[in-house]
Amino acid sequence: MSLRVSSSPRRLESVAKVTGSATYTGEGRPCAYAALVCSPCARGVIRRINYETAAKTPGVLQVLTHLNAPRLHKVKLLLPVELNNWLPLQNDTIHYAGQPVAMVIAESWEAARAAAALVEVECDAAAARLDFDFGPAEPVKSVGAGAPGLLVRGKPERSWAGSAQQVDATYRCAPAHHNPMEPAASLARWDDQGGLHLETCTQFVFGEAVLLAQAFGFAFGERTARLAAHVLGGWEIGGKVRVTAPLIGGSFGSKGANSHMLLAAMAARVVAQPVKLTLTRQQTYAMMPYRPQLQQRVRLGADIGGRLQAILHEARIGKSELGGFIEPCGELTASMYACSAFTVRHEAVTLDLNAPTFMRAPGAAPGLFALECAMDELAEKTGLDPLELRLRNYSEQDAKSGKPWSSKALRECYRRGAQQFGWARRSVPAVRHGKWLVGVGMASSAYLTQQFPCSARITLREQGNGVASLVESAFHEIGQGAWTALSQVAAECLGLPLSAVELKFGDTNLPFAAITAGSSTTLSVGSAIQTAAAALIKALLKLDREPASPLLGARPADLRLRDGRLEWRDEPERGRPVAELLRLAPNGCLTVSAQHRIPIRPNWARAAWGAQFAEVAVHAEHGTIRLQRLVGAFAGGRVVNRQLAEDQLRGGMVWGIGHALMEGSVPDLQHGGWVNDNLGEALVPTQADVGEIEVLLLEEDDSPGNPLGVKGLGEIGICGVAAAIANAVFHATGRRVRDLPLRLDSLL
Ligand code: MOS
Repeated sequence: MSLRVSSSPRRLESVAKVTGSATYTGEGRPCAYAALVCSPCARGVIRRINYETAAKTPGVLQVLTHLNAPRLHKVKLLLPVELNNWLPLQNDTIHYAGQPVAMVIAESWEAARAAAALVEVECDAAAARLDFDFGPAEPVKSVGAGAPGLLVRGKPERSWAGSAQQVDATYRCAPAHHNPMEPAASLARWDDQGGLHLETCTQFVFGEAVLLAQAFGFAFGERTARLAAHVLGGWEIGGKVRVTAPLIGGSFGSKGANSHMLLAAMAARVVAQPVKLTLTRQQTYAMMPYRPQLQQRVRLGADIGGRLQAILHEARIGKSELGGFIEPCGELTASMYACSAFTVRHEAVTLDLNAPTFMRAPGAAPGLFALECAMDELAEKTGLDPLELRLRNYSEQDAKSGKPWSSKALRECYRRGAQQFGWARRSVPAVRHGKWLVGVGMASSAYLTQQFPCSARITLREQGNGVASLVESAFHEIGQGAWTALSQVAAECLGLPLSAVELKFGDTNLPFAAITAGSSTTLSVGSAIQTAAAALIKALLKLDREPASPLLGARPADLRLRDGRLEWRDEPERGRPVAELLRLAPNGCLTVSAQHRIPIRPNWARAAWGAQFAEVAVHAEHGTIRLQRLVGAFAGGRVVNRQLAEDQLRGGMVWGIGHALMEGSVPDLQHGGWVNDNLGEALVPTQADVGEIEVLLLEEDDSPGNPLGVKGLGEIGICGVAAAIANAVFHATGRRVRDLPLRLDSLL
């Protein structure tokens, strides 16, 4: 089934968002409120918690500590995310500064917060492991969502040692928090039958349902049980947990399996009424995840002509005792270029901090910073133009898996990006305008295409003289535009106008969808919708029993849905209005469900590709770095909504500028926790910082990779930006700065 969608309808939720009628979990509704008391020390045990005064504060309903909080059962999570196996308020052990150690539940938010401030916590502090630079590093078995922690092919050490040209450089990245505008919030209510409903901001309602069901000793619902059985491997129990998520005000990887979800549910159970828990920004820093601190050593070996002989990428990654997440920094390294000898090694340093997790373009964003800067260093050594060096090492297939790429318009991205940017005018040495040294740099960009199992249910109903459709799947609108893009996919597959498509999402009562993450949603949920639409054709055809029907003798594959009709693909004038067929169905209504199963077409390797070009001006005396221009050319398969996709990419590039020049959460090496735990000190690029940004979005035919032809454009925008900027700074100044964020003091 081919997609015709090429228009760019406006975001369906845009008016609701700008007029304030869009709803979020944290918004006002009748309920009780919980406020947290957090640990003042980074490691140790709780000696005493005094909450007598707090408990007597007017409006306070209950104060919970590890001594009187409901006991939770052990959990096993679907992903190695923030919470891992740690459960809040279960014992006196302190793992990080800011860990919740008590919870006040009150009739109002104000009363809860005021009382929480009166709780006194005394602990026996132990020496905390806070300094990443001095922590011992240990090898890790798996990284990210389960990729191997160590990959070796060929004899990389020997190939590197014997190479004519060598690079050996170490790059560092500061940790950084996701900082979505919407803070974490959960609203829990228990019903009379002992069922739990949690409304929360999450990227994965089913994942949270599995978490809650385990923690509260629930029998799983039948569908949740099947999911759990699938993911956890043979977990079989029955029961009742519902998780819903309205619109999500940004997440970027941070919203999943967070302890506030359990705390809200504990609070609501204890006071037997709905309770809402919203984290403050400081608590968001302390309790929510972030991108960990990283150090990456990259060695490249090449022949005289710049052809890679060996790539060795060794990363040292901050982690917490509480979380299993290891940033997959080297995930792309073996796939980027044609080089058959490589080592990709991840090691972790355990710190007494809250746990890190996936953050937008996990692995790829920091990993490509290191690899693409190292490529620039190799270009310098070999005397090749950085773009030419990349072309000489262009990979026609994935060196890691040995499979050919389903589509790869990277050459075209290089060419179009370079042309738009004016790369050919690059001069060596760089130019100087008065006190400003102007330099240019480039980097490759990529993001591996992921797809997850998802289901969709479609109901067609006769309405007026036309057809209305309801499309249901438990994915999430996290600000990326999935609601709009998937409505378009549905409209196209069903042959209906966008106005005839209603989408329901974000609820475990809907068909299963995997986590909304990894740039996978348009492809995964879109494919389920496409499969369901094909099943609808079959079902509609079955309804048609008229002897003189124009559809007589057709097989489902011969037909398509278009303009409200079921018609022959190769003879579109022969067909019947769908409304007419629906009249033959009970209640004038037809429902089908379908699944997107993975792996789909496993013989291909898949990735989205891009090229980033940056121009910076560096002040010769002050070291100030100004980004003047950024051009990104990308290809990620079929483009469903050009406007939304370009906006997403531009947003990613802006984040890349922050990654390069500003972002960094500063760990407090004395007390634990984070020094700049507020939005005022979380530096992000403003309009004045971003210069001129151009996005070139190339259309690719990825129908070999999957029938929908989509790959994914959610995260690739940030990839390669920091390297392009760092390389431009080198071109301008001759100074290699290998630490992110790049600061003016490293140039003085
Ligand atoms: Mo994302 S870091 O895949 O939510």
